[in-house]
Amino acid sequence: MTTPAFFEWLYDLPLSTYVRESLYLYPALDVLHVLGVIVLLGSIAVVDLRLLGKVFIEVPIARLSNSVLPLAFVGAALAFASGLLLFLSEAETIWNNPMLVTKFVLLILAAINIGAWHVAFGKNEARWNLLPAPPLRAKIAGCASLALWAAILVFGRLIAFIF
Ligand code: HEM
Repeated sequence: MTTPAFFEWLYDLPLSTYVRESLYLYPALDVLHVLGVIVLLGSIAVVDLRLLGKVFIEVPIARLSNSVLPLAFVGAALAFASGLLLFLSEAETIWNNPMLVTKFVLLILAAINIGAWHVAFGKNEARWNLLPAPPLRAKIAGCASLALWAAILVFGRLIAFIF
């Protein structure tokens, strides 16, 4: 399949070429990508396990969520920035990598799950916030999140192996 002109254009950008031709920049970005992923998923997993009533059940959901959110944002920013540079440097070849495409679809589903949970919690905070064993709605959000982010990890790792 011929590469669409848009991805050729991304691939030929001076920044993409610089990353691609640098001996150390690509592996350094990959390390930063993994670090960002660890910080993001680590902070998200703490909240998910609280929603499942497994950890920190004495801590109100809102307080735990608000305390880890800044860390999650730092992790996401690092993962997205490094991921974008990794992608740009290989855009010509990985634009239709099935593992990468699947990862992006899962990232969108994970974002929808986060948004839907915040809307539901926003409406029911008074009732749910202090519950050590949160309601089924919270458990579904926590389970879906853990499953989606685990799948994103797997598909992210497979990008380099399956094309
Ligand atoms: C924030 C959510 C993200 C997560 C959890 C994630 C997860 C991962 C993981 C676990 C890997 C394997 C890294 C390794 O073991 O070397 C990976 C690789 C990669 N990711 Fe992401 N990623 C995210 C966002 C992005 C974004 C936004 C992009 C591009 C715009 C991206 C592009 C890539 C590329 C190109 C690779 C392949 C690197 C390689 O193996 O050569 N990622 N990702």
